[in-house]
Amino acid sequence: MIKIAPSILAADKSCLLKEIKKVERSADLLHFDIMDGHFVPNITFGPQFVADLRKKVKLPFEVHLMVEEPEKWIVPFVEAGSDLLIPHVEATSHLLRLITFIKKRGVKVGVALNPATPLCSLDYILSEIDMVLLMTVDPGFGGQEFLPEVLPKIKKLRKIAKRKGTFLDIGVDGGINGKTIKEVIARGANVIVAGTSIFSNSNPERVILNWKEL
Ligand code: DX5
Ligand code: ZN
Repeated sequence: MIKIAPSILAADKSCLLKEIKKVERSADLLHFDIMDGHFVPNITFGPQFVADLRKKVKLPFEVHLMVEEPEKWIVPFVEAGSDLLIPHVEATSHLLRLITFIKKRGVKVGVALNPATPLCSLDYILSEIDMVLLMTVDPGFGGQEFLPEVLPKIKKLRKIAKRKGTFLDIGVDGGINGKTIKEVIARGANVIVAGTSIFSNSNPERVILNWKEL
């Protein structure tokens, strides 16, 4: 099943709750982009921000950790009410330890890979995680252009997951629009993260419902 995860990075923060309410009925997850100004050249939200929205939004929260030393941020973001935590493989030297730590806190775990990071970085951990988030832009900003170089990577990962006999959630993040979504779904992606193309539309709900029919 295709799951749509709107990224609130692209939503108007001056009326954020109103923006989120536009997608709450149609979306499957809400995507939070946590940026620390070190792992990526941008700063966004902290745990308190997630905790405040947790009280007012029913959707599951998918928290994409674009931070150095993700180990430090697991407990604060779990306590804030995250449902799925997604650190980057490039940000930790102890990936398996980090995954185990997250699972022990009772939330789901995914890992994100930058466009240039090879799939072999998942070799020894794939059976331990709930999802892989393949970045289709270099992370740090919304509104960037989709990198078609990642398409074969999506296809290859779906093949690996099938061979293992597991259904793995494969997410894509960055530059997803009405055209690129078809390309990623055709390669086996099933969790679609999108900011600009959802929140810049006058009818975000319609965008999501259209995509779900694909
Ligand atoms: C980029 C973020 C994305 C971003 C996607 O670093 O991880 O989640 O919000 O934005 P769009 O859909 O605008 O490319
Ligand atoms: Zn993201």
